[in-house]
Amino acid sequence: MTSLWLSDRAEAADRPDVPQRADVVVVGAGITGLTTAVLLARAGKSVVVLEARHIGAGASGNTTGKVSLLQGTKLSRIASKHGEDVLRAYATGNSEGRDWLLRYCDEHGVSAQREDAFSYAQSPDGVGDARSELDAGRAAGLDVTWCDEADVPFPFHGGVRLADQAQIDPVPLLHSLAAELDSHGGSVISGARVHAVSGRRPLRIDVRLSTVDAQHPAHVQITAHQCILATGIPILDRGAFFARVKPERSYCLAFDVPGDVTRSMFLSVDSPTRSIRYAPTAEGDKLVVGGAGHTVGRAASPSRGIEELARWTRLHYPGAVQTHFWSAQDYTAIDELPYVGPLLPGLDTIHIATGFDKWGMTNGVAAALALSSRILGGRMDWSAAFASWRKGELTGVSTALQANLEVGLNLAKGWVSPWAAGAERPGDGDGVVSGPPWRMRADSVVDGEAHTTSPVCPHLGGVVRWNDADKAWECPLHGSRFAPDGELLEGPATRGLTPSAEKTSGPA
Ligand SMILES: Cc1cc2nc3c(=O)[nH]c(=O)nc-3n(C[C@H](O)[C@H](O)[C@H](O)COP(=O)(O)OP(=O)(O)OC[C@H]3O[C@@H](n4cnc5c(N)ncnc54)[C@H](O)[C@@H]3O)c2cc1C
Ligand code: FES
Repeated sequence: MTSLWLSDRAEAADRPDVPQRADVVVVGAGITGLTTAVLLARAGKSVVVLEARHIGAGASGNTTGKVSLLQGTKLSRIASKHGEDVLRAYATGNSEGRDWLLRYCDEHGVSAQREDAFSYAQSPDGVGDARSELDAGRAAGLDVTWCDEADVPFPFHGGVRLADQAQIDPVPLLHSLAAELDSHGGSVISGARVHAVSGRRPLRIDVRLSTVDAQHPAHVQITAHQCILATGIPILDRGAFFARVKPERSYCLAFDVPGDVTRSMFLSVDSPTRSIRYAPTAEGDKLVVGGAGHTVGRAASPSRGIEELARWTRLHYPGAVQTHFWSAQDYTAIDELPYVGPLLPGLDTIHIATGFDKWGMTNGVAAALALSSRILGGRMDWSAAFASWRKGELTGVSTALQANLEVGLNLAKGWVSPWAAGAERPGDGDGVVSGPPWRMRADSVVDGEAHTTSPVCPHLGGVVRWNDADKAWECPLHGSRFAPDGELLEGPATRGLTPSAEKTSGPA
């Protein structure tokens, strides 16, 4: 389950000393956190990045890596909710993000391929949406054109083209940013999970370190003037961003294909999603295909969607041999625009960046530009379209109500269904939640090893469900994920599932 980008890439084993204080603590070593850290360190701030797992462990190391202003149907969705001024501000932020990233790649020897991007209809039903995207792209000031045909082996019923976008392998970029941070005296501390931020000035940041030895105690505290939560979904509940974004998990497959690989980047506007690019590797170009997305914790069997995606690829690229398979999740804001800025209105010490809707290669850098300029006393005019608190919140109210109604239904269903379903033992690769509400248990078996934990998510009490593709527990409420033994993988949750005293004896 390691992404093409992360496979065979080891991080330095030595962990730098954890400083006791810093001007800015950035939580999360993805593209947003590392770019923000570098921008602040360049300006003379002392910066430490705390990363729960390793550099690129979240969406940034498991992305498709397209760096594009043409983003499926994103522009038309923003235009219909917010109008053209906001649309143009969103496009400007993304274009500054893209240009910064590509300039950085050029200047630091990080490879990026300039390619055209397409948002296309894979059936006649999708043509209307693709045409709307053309209109929105023009309204955003982009040089988009319409193509009736494209040189691709899969169904193409017309689409929008935006020339000269780019695609990257994100991992060399992330490591280059970490190295630059180091050169300015900053550091990235891997295996350092933040579980609380308290105090006002200075802030106190409580950190749990993953390995314990004499020099590195299990818990440390760092004081800082500012803290940036670049954790995908914010890990602090203040601000209730968990109720303002929807966690969407999706999958990527890499293939060796005989003959020519498709060169440009494609994303279907109609379902099921097909996202296509190529990736240069030492063994030659690979085809990368993405899709099979689901709201975290709410799909009966994610593996079925992946099998369908693999079948589709082999149909249109005969002889394709799958070499890699990975997944990740990103967060869609209820009103389509990212949330970047203070955790609470008027709070100038804790900042967040989320809601990139699977377009964080540009939005994450835009967020870094906006956050760093805010902290350094500058201003980006376009950043109002990215504000974490904005006057126009009403545009998202009906979506928010619906999303939180769904959350409520999933909460109730999670507590009642296992009781109604009765006891069941999982087979290998499966997980089952069973028992009455006062004695529920989550049993799973992976590679012959049985695990039992509590199924109750420590965030706000959702009941987890099994993901048969990732072999992990997912919370259907706000997207926290846990390993079979209950260890926290990602969250808004900041700790794992409680281990159960009772153990199952093995596969059924
Ligand atoms: C399948 C998929 C494909 C995508 N494809 C594209 C694409 O082609 N183009 C594009 O522009 N975007 C794409 N995206 C979106 C993009 O990858 C993300 O928006 C972007 O990587 C988010 O970056 P980030 O730094 O904000 O978060 P992340 O990369 O998720 O980083 C967050 C980090 O915070 C760490 N963390 C979390 N909690 C804690 C804690 N308590 N303490 C310490 N550390 C913590 C995590 O371990 C993680 O490393 C895709 C997303 C997915 C899921
Ligand atoms: S992620 Fe919020 S309750 Fe589980």
